[in-house]
Amino acid sequence: MQYLICGKEAIQEKTIDIENTSYDPKNYDLIILGTPIWAANISSPLRTYIEKNKSDFKKVLMFFTQGSSGADKAIVKLQKLLGKNISTCLTLTSKEVAKSQYQNKLDDFLKNIV
Ligand SMILES: Cc1cc2nc3c(=O)[nH]c(=O)nc-3n(C[C@H](O)[C@H](O)[C@H](O)COP(=O)(O)O)c2cc1C
Repeated sequence: MQYLICGKEAIQEKTIDIENTSYDPKNYDLIILGTPIWAANISSPLRTYIEKNKSDFKKVLMFFTQGSSGADKAIVKLQKLLGKNISTCLTLTSKEVAKSQYQNKLDDFLKNIV
């Protein structure tokens, strides 16, 4: 049932109630946003966080986890929501995570942080 609710929220691009966060993004030069892919879109909690805070974001990096596909579609929608392009994005599939086959991708991603 929860799966269906989450899928519907993602498809309909809904915002939901989320708790306030402890860290204020306006105090940071870099924000790293992460979400599972839901129905080839970003999750509703991340959508809500972005809607609330995007005016305070400076540089944004992104990581997705996905079963197998959908992140390519999600990033297009995400960039539209943010109003800016994301130059760096890490996408990991469930298989890559389960088999610990993500180190090279992760290292490349982390080069953008240091
Ligand atoms: C509602 C829902 C929709 C999903 N839609 C997709 C999808 O479109 N493409 C995909 O590859 N995985 C999809 N998944 C799988 C999740 O992306 C995957 O389980 C998740 O990234 C793994 O992280 P987790 O352990 O936090 O769930 C979906 C999962 C849920 C719950």
